[in-house]
Order: sequence, then structure tokens, then C-alpha cells
Amino acid sequence: QRERSQQPRGSCCCCFLDIKSLFSLFQESLNRHRYLNSFSHENSTAFYGINQFSYLFPEEFKALYLGSKPAWSPRYPAAGQTPIPNVSLPLRFDWRDKHVVNQVRNQKMCGGCWAFSVVGAIESACAIQGKPLDYLSVQQVIDCSFNNYGCSGGSPLGALSWLNKTQMKLVEDSEYPFKAENGLCRYFPRSQSGVSIKNFSAYDFSDQEDEMAKALLNFGPLVVIVDAVSWQDYLGGIIQHHCSSGEANHAVLITGFDKTGNTPYWMVRNSWGNSWGIEGYAHVKMGGNVCGIADSVSVVFV
Ligand SMILES: *[C@@H]1O[C@H](CO)[C@@H](O)[C@H](O)[C@H]1NC(C)=O
Ligand SMILES: *[C@@H]1O[C@H](CO)[C@@H](O)[C@H](O)[C@H]1NC(C)=O
Ligand SMILES: *[C@@H]1O[C@H](CO)[C@@H](O)[C@H](O)[C@H]1NC(C)=O
Ligand SMILES: *[C@@H]1O[C@H](CO)[C@@H](O)[C@H](O)[C@H]1NC(C)=O
Repeated sequence: QRERSQQPRGSCCCCFLDIKSLFSLFQESLNRHRYLNSFSHENSTAFYGINQFSYLFPEEFKALYLGSKPAWSPRYPAAGQTPIPNVSLPLRFDWRDKHVVNQVRNQKMCGGCWAFSVVGAIESACAIQGKPLDYLSVQQVIDCSFNNYGCSGGSPLGALSWLNKTQMKLVEDSEYPFKAENGLCRYFPRSQSGVSIKNFSAYDFSDQEDEMAKALLNFGPLVVIVDAVSWQDYLGGIIQHHCSSGEANHAVLITGFDKTGNTPYWMVRNSWGNSWGIEGYAHVKMGGNVCGIADSVSVVFV
């Protein structure tokens, strides 16, 4: 087991700030919100303001919460990708309606988004096959995926290829609960029940978000990486601006889409607790590869 850099333990940062720095923090977040909201005249665009992350400077927020290291996927269609069956797309679809998506979780001060998105996809893939919707251990992936950096970050593709190669069985979350810090990998006897994956596939769907929606319909929730720096201040609405493609720093799970309104959007399950955004979800505009959402998309088969 090699050493990993430990994330500083979470304590209240504000306690150590003097009045002057508190004031500049407050000024900075107000300026940020004013700027972010400057597109708010548009149809159902996102709005930004005070939330649980307002006490952090953007650099601190990025260091603590955005832990995805980008890994690129081949453009679709490429050799070695699972072909996507052609289906006609409904106007709205959400795997939550089929009761195959767990509650939003909270990564706390651990940059383990990459593990949360992958484990969420595996939980849903099992439930779609008619197995019970269990919570599987994210901590096991954080501790054991040696090709990643635990709470200091990682890539969902790295985790998927590790899971596929080692055939590691993910145990239930209650067996190996989340601690929000790195730990030594715990091994279980072969007889231990758990879920291993059969395969996975990675796609680049930029310019092909309808194809991406078909992948969601056919295979289950999609693991994606995005630029989420401006998500620090997100309160609701449809994210359409203030983020780029090609700058991925966060991993999330898409559970559905909605094309019934003027602005079609993806329903994106985050791992910052259910008080963030829209009950823990963000809505991100479909089409245009907003925040790089279509750049690196993975599906998992169990
Ligand atoms: C808002 O939506 C309406 C109806 O689709 C459209 O006519 C209008 O141009 C949109 N406005 C903007 C600013 O996008
Ligand atoms: C895994 O997926 C790849 C890509 O779709 C495919 O070529 C391969 O046959 C699959 N392997 C198994 C064991 O299902
Ligand atoms: C997919 O199906 C639709 C109708 O459901 C059809 O119009 C379209 O041409 C098909 N696309 C491909 C690539 O077969
Ligand atoms: C996953 O593992 C299976 C079985 O070893 C292998 O056939 C497949 O190619 C692997 N998938 C990927 C995408 O590496």
C-alpha cells in the first residue's frame, strides 16, 4: 500500500479568519454571484447565491471538493465501444422514476467525487437488472483503487478499468462505511457477497447528445466529468454558462433528461448532499456540451 497525501481534516475555516478577511470573502462571493447572475434574463437559466459553500474562496472550494482528474474517452463510435441500440427518445426520462437511483450522498471534505459517481452507476445498474437497490461502499473504492488518489482525487475511468480488471467485489456500504478520508484497503474473504462489474464502456459524445440520451435509456445512468468551478454558488435553474469543456474537475452521474421546456436539460446527480442545488441535483442544458458534460461519458455493465 503506497502512501497517499492526506486531505486536511475538516474544521471550521472561518474561525481562523480575522474580520478583514471575512469581509473580503463576503465581498468576493457577492461579486461572484452578481457576475454569475448577469445572464439571468434568459429562459430558465441558472441562478447563483449563498449556499453551504459560500464561506470558501474559489481556490479552497476547488481544492476541497473538485477531485476528478480528467481522462479522455474515444469519440463515438469507436472500435471497442458497446454499440448503442437505436431507440426513439421520449421528451422526458428519469431513472429516478423507476426507483433505481439511491438518495444523493455527501462526499464531505473528500475529493472522492470520482468514486461516488462510479458507485452510484453500479448501484443503479444492479437495480435496473431487478436486484435490490443497495448502497455499495464508496470508501472501498477510495481506499483500494490504487490507480487513483483517494480523497485527493481520481478519475472515474481509472476506477472503472481497475474494477473491471481486478473483479473486486464491492461490499455494502454498511460493511465498509464512508469516513471522508483515506484509509488502508480492507480485504474481504472470497465468500463475502458483493458486486463486481462485467464490463464498462467510455464515449465522447460532444456534438452527439441525442446519442448520449439513447445510451442513458439503453444502459442506465451515465458517469460524466464536468467543469464544476461555478457550481460552488449554484442554487437552481438550468446551467448554461460559466463553465467550459476541456477543463473537467468533477465527476457526477446523469440520471435523466427533460426536453419538455424551452431549454432541454440533463438531470445531474451530485455528491454534495441534498441541500445543494435542486435537492442535490443540478440541471445542465442539453446540447452544446455545456461544462464539458458530453466529453467523457461512461456506462457500466454488471
Ligand atoms: C425564450 O423562449 C422563447 C420560447 O421558446 C423564445 O421565443 C425566446 O427567444 C427565448 N428567449 C431567450 C432569451 O432565449
Ligand atoms: C466489453 O465491452 C467491449 C466494448 O463494448 C466489448 O468489445 C467486449 O466484448 C465486452 N466484453 C465482455 C466480456 O462483455
Ligand atoms: C433511429 O430510429 C429513428 C426512428 O425511431 C429513425 O428515424 C432513425 O433513422 C434511426 N437512426 C438510425 C441511425 O438507424
Ligand atoms: C473488462 O473485462 C472483460 C473481461 O476481462 C474484458 O473482456 C473487457 O475487454 C474489459 N473491458 C474494458 C473496457 O476494458
